[in-house]
Amino acid sequence: MSIQFSRTLVTTALPYANGPVHLGHLAGVYLPADIYVRYKRLRGEDIIHIGGSDEHGVPITITADREGITPQEVVDRYHAQNLEAFERCGISFDYYGRTSSKLHHETASEFFREIEGKDIFVKKMEQHFFDPKANRFLSDRYVTGTCPVCGYGEANGDQCEQCGTHLSPRELIEPRSKLSNEAPQLRETLHWYFPLGRFQPFLEEYVKGHVGDWRANVVNYTKTWLKQGLNDRAITRDLSWGVPVPIDTEEARGKVLYVWFDAVLGYISFTRAWAEKNGRPERWREFWQHEDSRIVHFIGKDNVVFHTLMFPAILMAWNENRSEGRYVLADNVPASEFMNFEGRKFSKSRNYAVYLGEFLDRFPADTLRYTVAMNYPENKDSDFSWTDFQNRTNGELADTLGNFIKRSIDFTNSKFDGRVPWQCTPEDWRLPGLDWDDCLDRLEKAYEQFHFREAASLTMDVARAANRFLTEKEPWKIMKTDRDAAARTMAISLNLCHTLAIAFYPVIPHTANRIYRMLGFGESLDDALKNGRLDWRDAFQPMLFEGHVLGGVSEILFSKIQDSDIAPELEKIERLLADIRRKEAGEEARGLADIAPEIAFEDFLKVDLRVVTVLEAEKVRKADKLLRLQVRIGGETRQVLAGLALSYRPEELVDRQVVMVANLAERKIRGEVSRGMILAVEGSDGRLHVVEVDGEGINGKRVE
Ligand code: MF3
Ligand code: ZN
Repeated sequence: MSIQFSRTLVTTALPYANGPVHLGHLAGVYLPADIYVRYKRLRGEDIIHIGGSDEHGVPITITADREGITPQEVVDRYHAQNLEAFERCGISFDYYGRTSSKLHHETASEFFREIEGKDIFVKKMEQHFFDPKANRFLSDRYVTGTCPVCGYGEANGDQCEQCGTHLSPRELIEPRSKLSNEAPQLRETLHWYFPLGRFQPFLEEYVKGHVGDWRANVVNYTKTWLKQGLNDRAITRDLSWGVPVPIDTEEARGKVLYVWFDAVLGYISFTRAWAEKNGRPERWREFWQHEDSRIVHFIGKDNVVFHTLMFPAILMAWNENRSEGRYVLADNVPASEFMNFEGRKFSKSRNYAVYLGEFLDRFPADTLRYTVAMNYPENKDSDFSWTDFQNRTNGELADTLGNFIKRSIDFTNSKFDGRVPWQCTPEDWRLPGLDWDDCLDRLEKAYEQFHFREAASLTMDVARAANRFLTEKEPWKIMKTDRDAAARTMAISLNLCHTLAIAFYPVIPHTANRIYRMLGFGESLDDALKNGRLDWRDAFQPMLFEGHVLGGVSEILFSKIQDSDIAPELEKIERLLADIRRKEAGEEARGLADIAPEIAFEDFLKVDLRVVTVLEAEKVRKADKLLRLQVRIGGETRQVLAGLALSYRPEELVDRQVVMVANLAERKIRGEVSRGMILAVEGSDGRLHVVEVDGEGINGKRVE
């Protein structure tokens, strides 16, 4: 399939406006998107970058409740903060919108009404928990209670934090409302479901068409979902914060659209806002509704199916029976893996993170951009460390790139009156160890195929070759004996400075602009680009003619990062890690101190522990942690549900002899009967280990 695209729309996942963005977000989504967009702008292509804040959903209301402020105050604060941090980092959005805006509410409502009008939604009357005291329905996260799987008393309505089981609030034992701490009541409420299954054949077709060009992780996540079969997804919630369900009936009152239904539509509403702002309000259609438009969604791996299945299905529902105003589907969804921080996952709740704004208070944006680009988590998780940051800044940016630029300009200023002293010929431009055609070819491929680490590193190779060239030619030595040779060397070097400014522009745009100015161009590189006076390919041939006047005194492009600069950061990490370790150790110690109150021997005898043999084991659908076991106990076979799925592959358990509480009252978990409890102990790695008994002829025997 080779379509000739006339323009490109790049979107970046909308971060929840409930906290500051950190380096992990930057590395996976915003920096790669910005690098791509800047590269395409250099090529003179028609491209826009649309992003913004995801301001709805339970993440926002929970933050508001915790901080005792309104949801609006939460999103106002973090929208402004994140936008400012992105700007300082040089993430060049064409528009950065908000899902709380009027135009967004209108757009999302329009989609809902269109799909409702076609009678595509499925409506289901359901029983949900209602808090009579607070007079509102409780979404899953607002219900707490005892976990039916592990007995943890503070399990959330959607998941138990202790054993990880995905739950629905009604499975909790003794549920309580987090708002009033009272027992909630079940009340009937109508909800709208999007029938994803109806679009399954079209989605399969869509994904099949991209198997060659999408990343393996994206295809795999998506195929796993398709294989399981797509179900109806609820797209309304009983909440007061969000886009109100836009129909005027009693049933719709007090309900909002599910945040994921509205958030993806933000890409569209923000493009509309961009077009309005630029005085051509209909231009958004060229990006969304013309077949020759290419749409690319930059996201993290946790958002894949929302972009490869849900959003396309919503657009398909819109397109159904329409000959005009049809939406095009994304051409690519480059999803990143995660970038860790000093060997550990970023964790907002543990404050184990470096926030973008804070980072930029201390270090220049381009040092960050370069290091993060060199650690782009393209197909596996990567790591950001302070020492790597220091080494790359000092060794690659300062000693190689910065040093080369400064030497070239300083020497020309002092010996050649600040002018390019020679006219470069094509012969001159042939440098040892640098094949320009090959270099250009590889760089273009790297950018087009989203290999940004490779692009940054190939560009640094050019800087290395340039630096080596200047060092080896020693113009400062031959100046006295062979002035022409020195002039030739300097002309080549200055042209290489120009090459590096343009070639590095996607990755380190601030530096590129400074180099450009130092080379004596009256306008910034950004402006030259906007005014069409610059082209990517110009970078790879000599463009500075003999006599061209440089911009005067040189600047130091990068100051070295001293050990003392990063020492406080390293100390901070030590403190945080020590905290985390102490907490973990404390939890273990508490486990020992927390020995249950004494019981009589007769009480112990009440618990009938038996050795059983696992005959079969399989995963339980939609319950990540649960395994369904068939166990043999004497002559009997029983079904038991056990929260072991994250610790064992099902087949690993088959044929093992384990210990089970055999006289526990029968329980229903996720609608299935469980007749027994398998004993297991949790290791420090969080994995469970079943209590196993080695021996022959002991099946069904009592453990005493
Ligand atoms: N706010 C979501 C998150 O942070 C991402 C939303 S992406 C969009 O995970 F597609 F919905 F916009
Ligand atoms: Zn649990």
